[in-house]
Amino acid sequence: MREGSVTTLIRREDYQAPAFWIRTVDLTFDLDPAKTLVTAKMQIARNSAVAHGPLRLHGEELNLLRCLINGESVSFRQEGAELIIDNAPDADFALELRNTCAPEKNTTLSGLYTSGGSFFTQCEAEGFRRICYFLDRPDVMAVYTVTLRADKAKYPVLLSNGNLLESGDLDATRHFAKWHDPFPKPSYLFALVAGDLVAREQRVRTRAGKDHLLQVYVRRGDLEKTEHAMNSLIASMVWDEARFKLPLDLERFMVVGVSDFNMGAMENKGLNIFNTSALLASPATATDTDFNRIESIVAHEYFHNWTGNRVTCRDWFQLSLKEGLTVFRDQEFSMDMAGSPSARAVCRIADVRQLRAAQFPEDSGAMAHPVRPDSYSEINNFYTATVYDKGSEVVRMYQTLVGRAGFEKGMSLYFERHDGQAVTCDDFAQAIADANPGSALSLRLEAFKRWYSQAGTPRLQARGVYDAAAQTYTLSLTQHNPASPGQEHKLPQVIPVALGLLSEQGQVLPLQLQGSTEVSNEQVLVLEEAQQSFVFVGVASEPVPSLLRGFSAPVLLDDGLTDAQLLVLLQHDVDAFNRWEAGQRLALNRILAAVRSGTPLQLDGAFIQAMRAVLRHPELDAAFKEIALTLPGEAYIAEQLAVVDPQAIHAAVEAAQVQLAAALREDWITAFEANQIQGGYTPDPVSSGKRALANLALSMLVLDAQKSGDTVWPGRAYQRFKDAGNMTERLGALAALVNAHAELAEAALARFHELFKDDALVIDKWFALQGRTPEKDGRSFARVRQLLQHPDFTLKNPNRARSLIFSLCMFNPAAFHRADAAGYVFWAEQVLALDAINPQVAGRLARVMDRWNVLAEPYRSAALLAVQRVAAKPDLSPDVREIITRALA
Ligand code: ARG
Ligand code: ZN
Repeated sequence: MREGSVTTLIRREDYQAPAFWIRTVDLTFDLDPAKTLVTAKMQIARNSAVAHGPLRLHGEELNLLRCLINGESVSFRQEGAELIIDNAPDADFALELRNTCAPEKNTTLSGLYTSGGSFFTQCEAEGFRRICYFLDRPDVMAVYTVTLRADKAKYPVLLSNGNLLESGDLDATRHFAKWHDPFPKPSYLFALVAGDLVAREQRVRTRAGKDHLLQVYVRRGDLEKTEHAMNSLIASMVWDEARFKLPLDLERFMVVGVSDFNMGAMENKGLNIFNTSALLASPATATDTDFNRIESIVAHEYFHNWTGNRVTCRDWFQLSLKEGLTVFRDQEFSMDMAGSPSARAVCRIADVRQLRAAQFPEDSGAMAHPVRPDSYSEINNFYTATVYDKGSEVVRMYQTLVGRAGFEKGMSLYFERHDGQAVTCDDFAQAIADANPGSALSLRLEAFKRWYSQAGTPRLQARGVYDAAAQTYTLSLTQHNPASPGQEHKLPQVIPVALGLLSEQGQVLPLQLQGSTEVSNEQVLVLEEAQQSFVFVGVASEPVPSLLRGFSAPVLLDDGLTDAQLLVLLQHDVDAFNRWEAGQRLALNRILAAVRSGTPLQLDGAFIQAMRAVLRHPELDAAFKEIALTLPGEAYIAEQLAVVDPQAIHAAVEAAQVQLAAALREDWITAFEANQIQGGYTPDPVSSGKRALANLALSMLVLDAQKSGDTVWPGRAYQRFKDAGNMTERLGALAALVNAHAELAEAALARFHELFKDDALVIDKWFALQGRTPEKDGRSFARVRQLLQHPDFTLKNPNRARSLIFSLCMFNPAAFHRADAAGYVFWAEQVLALDAINPQVAGRLARVMDRWNVLAEPYRSAALLAVQRVAAKPDLSPDVREIITRALA
């Protein structure tokens, strides 16, 4: 049963301030899984700036019991999901509402729901209206007082935002707790938790001398897996005070883990709620990647307290105001935590790989939208890589244009102006610009803001001409942003291009722009026209340009460099990002040539020699070697092609892998042996880099053994899998066997399951590994179908659904895109099945077909049929309906 199958489009330009303000709200919850009673008492005032009208409150799947104004009953109507009071007083008034909701039946995981016998909430973006009637929009900010009443034995812990005012017994079996949050907040930041949980606690004192209590709440057995999260939280507090002078503003800060959760985590004021996958870690159950991810998500949610909570969004079109900025902050934090320049570069490279794998395809597909979208029908569909990751790149460009100190000044002005307000992306841009008058940003602010309004990844072409006689080097930069849905023609964007020049021997050449006296080793050129030329003088020899250093703008660069020039950069560039990029380009060129010509890939000696040199390099560290020897992702390769044949791409990548495995066999052995770690586990960048390289080497050796018939390395991998002292090594060895389709893979998988059958997060890894196993004779796909029947599999838990189904449909192109269309049929079935349970998760899976239109035949026609099949279902959720409608537009 679905209310309102008609989808309405909400437009940014239609924004209107609310007709009423809710100043305070006093909530009382009588918690019961089947039927929870919610009493809400609000102080409401008319917004005199808006035309006189009725009070319209949002509500969804609520059962209304009472509606009083100033203590008297009042007439009201219900229109769709809204509660409308036509005769609301002109003067400030008290509104009392009472309703019930059914947490235990709430499988959407939005609003109030139960998980593992406890109560949790998720209110962003529009979940609060599933708890009680309210002005559920971010520009309505109220002060909350919350009383929770529940059975004492089942729910000994009762939490909400802010500070605990009082708690105690109600009778022999029930107890209560009363919380007050002094900061006015939008409803999406409300949270409550009730259950049988335990906490790791830590008292900390900030630089300013204030004391705080930090708590991480989890289920009983999980306490020892919270140490890393607690350390990450403390590190985040220290960092935000040091870097941005932003202290913790609450006496108590709580973090809670829940195993049923739609996203990673949520920044509710003083009560962050986390997917356990983003919170729990122990060396035996979590990989280095998990440890890193937890550190960055804990930081992300903590940083939201200022960028999101103290200053929030006026409306949901401004989502990137908080998300892009907070991702930027967590990326900066992770880099600072990594320490060494090389470890920082590895962080940056990982972030860019992620952007290219997820955001670039989004920006060229059916769901392409600007960082600040112009319209949506379901806001949950817009928690995207564009809003988050491209949004973060946009914030990074501010910092590149005004400098680090200038950016910090801009942030201070932003908080000075807007603390306690709900604002827009324009307000943020203005604050950064106003704090930096005369800067490269301020001079072009309006043009710069096209990054918020234009979708699509700009193509940047760079061509250099050297004049030996004049000793000048002329660099011509041209930009072009292809059309996106609803945006035919685009204006040039402001593109900061960080660059340096190297001699053909790899020496740094000093940079001096014609007409300038400034000489430096690196400069930031600002491209603002469709085409511009920059002339460098005093260039002693033909230079090799190192462009877009550190990935200074989120664009696709065509620099026309030859293999010889790329090799100079790979060997000598002082910018570690561009060193990595040069290696990737060498690989990409070869893969694309094979795919375009339809011939099998054959790696040349020069490329293999270059990769060998990286692997043998005495100074490069293991983490960099690993990331440099990892081939470009298949999604990013697809971005370079007008017509995409996923099988051809996969075949080329696989061939490159097999050839690298064979050609560098001796070097892989050396790398594997040289990167063993003795002693206890720590997730620091040096040790995790060594583990990553050893894992890559092992997977190459097992892959090569599969081809050559050798049994030594599969045997060693199995041994390592059995004896591993931590999950990174254990999973690495298991993956080496599984991905190579080694005979020992089956025994290892069975053993792994037996060992970890009681740890849901590890079983997720077991499903994910099988969902992502490279295809061989249709076996990987068949296995996924089979695993749907596994007793541990369920669609109801988002982590589990993602681990198997998303792994296949999103991260295993060769198993998914089948000539017989079985992958697409599978996708359609799973989207429909999930939609009946959890529309948000279903909407995410629906995104898989964003780019059906660029697929080669026979995939394209078959994919279209599957999309049409989903579209034909009459009662799709608005979430899935919007994605499918855009795919077919
Ligand atoms: N604000 C949360 C974060 O920063 C994400 C919450 C998104 N929730 C949703 N239902 N779309 O990570
Ligand atoms: Zn966020």
